[in-house]
Amino acid sequence: MGIPKVQRAVLTGKGGGPPSALSVGETAVPTIKDNDLLVKVAAAGVNQADTKVRKQVMPGLVAPQILGKDYCGTVVAVGTGVQGYSLGDTVYGQLQAHGGAYAEYMVVDVAKDYVAKKPDSLSDAVAAGIPMGALTAYSGWVTYGGLKVPEGPFEQGPRVLVIGASGTVGHLATQMAKTCLGASLVVGVCSAKNAPWVKDMGCDEVIVYDATDEKGGKVVEAVGTTKWPEWKESFDLIYDTVGRDDLYLLWSHRLLKPSSRWVTCAFPVAEGGARRIGVTDLFAFAWFMGQKAIAGARKWQMVWEVDPKGWPMVTKWVDEGKLTVHIQESLPFSEAPRAHTLVEEGHVAGKVVLVPS
Ligand SMILES: NC(=O)c1ccc[n+]([C@@H]2O[C@H](COP(=O)([O-])OP(=O)(O)OC[C@H]3O[C@@H](n4cnc5c(N)ncnc54)[C@H](OP(=O)(O)O)[C@@H]3O)[C@@H](O)[C@H]2O)c1
Repeated sequence: MGIPKVQRAVLTGKGGGPPSALSVGETAVPTIKDNDLLVKVAAAGVNQADTKVRKQVMPGLVAPQILGKDYCGTVVAVGTGVQGYSLGDTVYGQLQAHGGAYAEYMVVDVAKDYVAKKPDSLSDAVAAGIPMGALTAYSGWVTYGGLKVPEGPFEQGPRVLVIGASGTVGHLATQMAKTCLGASLVVGVCSAKNAPWVKDMGCDEVIVYDATDEKGGKVVEAVGTTKWPEWKESFDLIYDTVGRDDLYLLWSHRLLKPSSRWVTCAFPVAEGGARRIGVTDLFAFAWFMGQKAIAGARKWQMVWEVDPKGWPMVTKWVDEGKLTVHIQESLPFSEAPRAHTLVEEGHVAGKVVLVPS
């Protein structure tokens, strides 16, 4: 089957708008250069980053015509300079530009973008759901968190806590800690509805943030009395993927070992990215950072960017069957507004992906 000249894609309009600004339209199929693959998209992962780019939350950030960084699809054309990939390969990965994957066809630059062959054991949707979450998880644990990737059999691995263990980053961070980094204890925080499958992902204990105990008290607030004596200063790392709840700040100095780290991938300003970041937000962020420093007295690390060294590790672990993704919904391109609404609400169980039809 030949490659058409025109394709269907989810278009952003002028960008900056609500999810309803996304619409399916026609656009030219991109052409490739020497280092490129043309990929027929089977699935595109929807990330918080896509919604922030669509909203153009930062000055100077312009939404591209087509969003989408995480992808899975079939190679339908190969540039003359590309080695290691052939027509018909199923590949997955992440684009380094802000978009391109919410389309029937997209270009992967093998020299710049993240790309790997998909193992047969993974569905297209799962493969498209992995890159952003897994790369951010790796960067939080290893690059910014300082955990070591074990070279041999696991010994007594680290004790870690994941806040937001049911989200894109959180559920991949949970699995990675347990199956790839050999954590001896993984505690996750998430909602009651997600607790059962988060346990299946490798959490030894789940703290449910939206449940109440028999006296009507919030379970999450009772952690102080029920768990702190047992867990006192015993954790090697807390990975915060939520970033908006001061309750967890208290846990920092009570649960973490004195020399250990609190790592966050969530920039805690502008309503989690729901609007443009202004000067007031930057002051709020500075205040938040100061508060963390005072309350925590532990090293506080922001995952500013994902570590490229994470990609070979992530693909190795995927090939070994150690990482997967919990798919909440696989939606057609025509439901891109709903996909963005779900992701922006911040309670997706694992991952939402878009498929061309
Ligand atoms: N720095 C980077 O390179 C980078 C990369 C990727 C993402 N990020 C950022 O990291 C953050 C997380 O991204 P994501 O894609 O994982 O988001 P997500 O999929 O929306 O996950 C957020 C999770 O937070 C949980 N949650 C919400 N309120 C909570 C609370 N009060 N206590 C505990 N958990 C709570 C939700 O759990 P329930 O559904 O169970 O309620 C949800 O699973 C976002 O701010 C994103 O922009 C940064």
